[in-house]
Amino acid sequence: MDSIVVTGGSELTGQIPIAGAKNACLALMPATLLTEEPLTLMNAPRLSDIKTMTLLLQSLGSEVQSLADERVIAMSSLGPLSTTADYDIVRKMRASNLVLGPLLAREGEAVVSLPGGCAIGARPMDIHITALEALGAEIELRDGYLHAKAPGGLKGARVPFRFASVGATENTLMAATLAKGTTVIENAAREPEIIDLAACLSKMGAQIEGAGTSTIEVQGVDRLGGATHSVVTDRIELGTYMLAPAICGGDIECLGGRLDLVTAFAEKLDAAGISVEETEAGLRVARKNGRVTAIDVSTQPFPGFPTDLQAQMMALMCTADGVSHLEETIFENRFMHAPELLRMGADIEVHGGTATVTGVERLKGAPVMATDLRASVSLILAGLAAEGDTVVNRVYHLDRGYEHVEEKLGAVGAKIERVPVE
Ligand code: EPZ
Repeated sequence: MDSIVVTGGSELTGQIPIAGAKNACLALMPATLLTEEPLTLMNAPRLSDIKTMTLLLQSLGSEVQSLADERVIAMSSLGPLSTTADYDIVRKMRASNLVLGPLLAREGEAVVSLPGGCAIGARPMDIHITALEALGAEIELRDGYLHAKAPGGLKGARVPFRFASVGATENTLMAATLAKGTTVIENAAREPEIIDLAACLSKMGAQIEGAGTSTIEVQGVDRLGGATHSVVTDRIELGTYMLAPAICGGDIECLGGRLDLVTAFAEKLDAAGISVEETEAGLRVARKNGRVTAIDVSTQPFPGFPTDLQAQMMALMCTADGVSHLEETIFENRFMHAPELLRMGADIEVHGGTATVTGVERLKGAPVMATDLRASVSLILAGLAAEGDTVVNRVYHLDRGYEHVEEKLGAVGAKIERVPVE
């Protein structure tokens, strides 16, 4: 397990390339199960989660090749396909559950291990199950696996969601493309990754209206064809790197960054005293003057402030001028970065779903532990601003969602290196 050592104090200048979105790619890859024709994804991110999804699809019988330095994923699922998604793979990555909808639609059955909880919460699948049952699936939970059957095929239906679940929207959307008749998803998630998935499915021949709004309508078709699709920019990686010059000073251009993907987040940065400006090549971010101002944040489904940027924003607020209240409304346990930031001298009090952060002049470097993907990167950001060295352990969490973070930050002046730990 490697560690990453960050020596704080350097201002950052230059350009950081933003990769394709992990959370779009993890939904796009299972779409190969919906067709026997080739599906090729461009601008894919080079991440361990993508490798995990590759292994899962290969275990089901899909052919998946990473080409062009892993930027291109060429897939084909001629079949016959296995319909069992193994616990050993699913437990590593919750997004494995995104094969449920496509397998049901293609094969009329799916056996998918329940992902089990993870560091940030129990993460049940009731919304997925209710939705697919509305489309005619019979789903039974047995020995920790979801056993789903739709022997006569899926039938379109009205599917109201109690919560705008991203994964449940993706599973239901993919299943509905091959259902007989019309499906209407109400209170659907509106994330850009949903829009990207719908765009790819449409290229494959799906009939989808309303992706990106709360109501998505799908006319089922008999079969889908292949496609070539470029993965949308990763708005969470983008937001993360926008915070780097915010926390330690400097002026960074995030190449490929799109303001429409991070509008609510950029508004909060502006309120905190960080300038965000659109350029030909992306988004340019700089600290306007001196210390940032403490602001309040409440995480919401898109287009609200993303839960996946809450930990990173907390790192910025640790050195802000004033008191900030960060409310986490999406997951029940997503403040595990707080105890690690406290080790660096931060002043944070967590009560239920709200963290109150009183900014300090300077954080102090310390050995800290990564616990989940976004908590890990918040510790890297804090290390950029801290006095002395910060050693972030268990960085395998980081490699799930960030390509070579030490290379991208090192290239713009950060003192950061990866240290292999035996
Ligand atoms: C996706 O997870 C993302 N992962 C998460 O990113 C992200 O935090 C989350 O959406 C919210 O934006 C991928 O896209 C691979 P949800 P997902 O279903 O689909 C509850 C990262 O860091 N819920 O919208 O699992 C659930 O427990 C990851 O890249 C139910 O109760 O999120 C959670 O509290 C972390 N029942 C909330 O809804 C269900 O059936 C949001 O879950 C489904 C979800």
